[in-house]
Amino acid sequence: MQARDNPKTFRVKSFGCQMNVYDGERMGELLAENGMAPAAEGEDADLVVLNTCHIREKAAEKVYSDIGRLAKAGGERAPLIAVAGCVAQAEGEEIMTRAPAVSVVVGPQAYHRLPEMIKQAVRGERATDTDMPANAKFAALGVRRRSGPSAFLTVQEGCDKFCTYCVVPYTRGAEISRPFKDLLAESQRLLEAGAREITLLGQNVNAWRGEDAKGAAIGLDGLIRELDKLPDLQRIRYTTSHPNDVTDGLIAAHGEVAKLMPYLHLPVQSGSDRVLTAMNRSHTARGYLGLIDRFRAARADIAISGDFIVGFPGETEADFAATLQLVDRVGYAQAFSFKYSARPGTPAAAMDAKVPREVMDERLQRLQAALNRDQLAFNRRSVGQSCAVLVERTGKKPGQWLGKSPWLQSVFFEGEAAIGDLVEVELAAAGPNSLAAVLARTGGRLSDRR
Ligand code: 5AD
Ligand code: SF4
Repeated sequence: MQARDNPKTFRVKSFGCQMNVYDGERMGELLAENGMAPAAEGEDADLVVLNTCHIREKAAEKVYSDIGRLAKAGGERAPLIAVAGCVAQAEGEEIMTRAPAVSVVVGPQAYHRLPEMIKQAVRGERATDTDMPANAKFAALGVRRRSGPSAFLTVQEGCDKFCTYCVVPYTRGAEISRPFKDLLAESQRLLEAGAREITLLGQNVNAWRGEDAKGAAIGLDGLIRELDKLPDLQRIRYTTSHPNDVTDGLIAAHGEVAKLMPYLHLPVQSGSDRVLTAMNRSHTARGYLGLIDRFRAARADIAISGDFIVGFPGETEADFAATLQLVDRVGYAQAFSFKYSARPGTPAAAMDAKVPREVMDERLQRLQAALNRDQLAFNRRSVGQSCAVLVERTGKKPGQWLGKSPWLQSVFFEGEAAIGDLVEVELAAAGPNSLAAVLARTGGRLSDRR
């Protein structure tokens, strides 16, 4: 590699989950602190960080086509390319051999080292770091200076569950919880920087464990109750949860903490116990449904969301029918569904009885039809209700605002408002992915209501 000029502008492109979005924001802040500026919309950047996702084959392959495009389009002045995220972690060496245009490979636990690695690349030496020291990254990151109304806060990372299809335990490592006092401090900073809603993030967010200020052991519900005390914080959310880490306290919090929004993302993956066993999910369909009932008993209007995989090795038509049955029983407000993708190194990749592609396609279509039906039905049932909306941005039309309902629906409306306001609206019309609303007559601005 040749030595080159110091990059002045950067762009971070994040793929995949919300954790990557959070990491991408933090990498951007880090680069800005080190004297670089975000490239203007439509302008080429001197440094491009591809913050990648390894969860399914399609996502992982994307990084190579992106690198190719950047290297070619840049010509003489190709940008400095850094690959971050889970593909960097899983395939770091392969990227370095397959893609000579890449200067930096940095895993999700090492990105606090990005600035020094870029300096190394500027000197003409390629740099790789895929070490996984627990918590070193968070300790090394600086303070948050800017935030939109809705902010992410990573509280837990990694996974010890080892579902047989999943790369996360390998790319993100073992479960670690960030200390309570760090989370409180980062929350306060986010609020000072303009946040009104905080979404607590973790691959298994409800496995978070810590100690409160008095040294008492607390779980995620305890953390939520502590954050509830911050006066400027108006809404709390969390994602993604695992059924086996749901506690009585977390369920109770949904009935007791008004700032905790009525929304639960609880992946189930399949409605068939046979498939759940092969997936090493260590819960049954009945156990999952029992949890949903208990959440609903604590908070009747809670919106349920989930993740599904169709075509796991050995999945029969009867197994798939059980998934459809579970979907009918739950009535999801929102859900994500995927075709099974064999990931190198995972136990499921070595399993026999692969489901043919056409069968997977057909099952995904049927599942998505059911999920879309339920999402629209949920949105339609919301029409006529009054609720608070946190305004996140302007809409496409002049005078239009876009925000989120307590149930995480996208809501647009017109009238007097500003980004960051919590306004009262009446939901007036429902589409599959958003709702139209009318601002309440009172002017709509809420101070202490949710
Ligand atoms: N194939 C398909 N979907 C997967 N997911 C995780 N691993 C795979 C895979 N190998 C899905 C699961 C998980 C979500 C984040 O991605 O549904 O909950
Ligand atoms: Fe992957 Fe299962 Fe861990 Fe979720 S719980 S991150 S699906 S191994």
